[in-house]
Amino acid sequence: MRIDILTLFPEMFTSFLEGSLLGAAQANGLLDIRVVNIRDYAEGVHRQVDDRPFGGGPGMLLMPGPVVDCVEAVRKQAADAGHLVMLTPAGRRLDQSVVEELARRDRIVLLCGRYEGFDERIRETLEPDEISIGDYVLSGGEVAAMVIVDAVARLVPGVLGDEESARQDSFSGAERLVEGPQYTRPREFRGLQVPDVLLSGDHARIAKWRHDQALVATERRAHSIHSPRSIP
Ligand code: ADE
Repeated sequence: MRIDILTLFPEMFTSFLEGSLLGAAQANGLLDIRVVNIRDYAEGVHRQVDDRPFGGGPGMLLMPGPVVDCVEAVRKQAADAGHLVMLTPAGRRLDQSVVEELARRDRIVLLCGRYEGFDERIRETLEPDEISIGDYVLSGGEVAAMVIVDAVARLVPGVLGDEESARQDSFSGAERLVEGPQYTRPREFRGLQVPDVLLSGDHARIAKWRHDQALVATERRAHSIHSPRSIP
């Protein structure tokens, strides 16, 4: 799978892309991830990419020229122009089913915004799939793009190594359940015991217990009933 990330801050992606999972997936040729600086497509000595909004208002907007030129040039680099995603808080909300949809594509192009947003003609010209990672405002689309790359990469066959582990993750499978509690050694910690069923060796009983626990965890989450640490 090929992923192109278009940004004004390419250096933000350096250590992220070198991390163990993504680094190995790129070395193995499972992922081809390229980071492109939108400013390389800006004109003039100042390589200007942003300007003040017409009609007044706070902040700066991304200008259509450099952004559209950058997207068009990058999409032309391969026969498959890819699925264009614009990161914006106004987009459809990212969830695991959107992640699965993106992971089925051979190429995605992620366009990161900055400042107060994009000139509207960028949307009109490119007609991107607009995606938000949640109802809060980030300083730019870069962190949102990292969220998408991370979540999508784990679904690309071979990236995790253990395919079963993605299938057992929260939100995967038809029921979209969150995972219930898990335990490792020791069997007792500060008086808290590992549930007997997990030590029983009875795989069918363990599978049923885990499914029941996932239903409980999903129900609790739906009602936002969490630990005493959550603010009352
Ligand atoms: N850019 C700024 N805020 C964002 C958000 N919540 N999701 C995606 N892109 C963004």
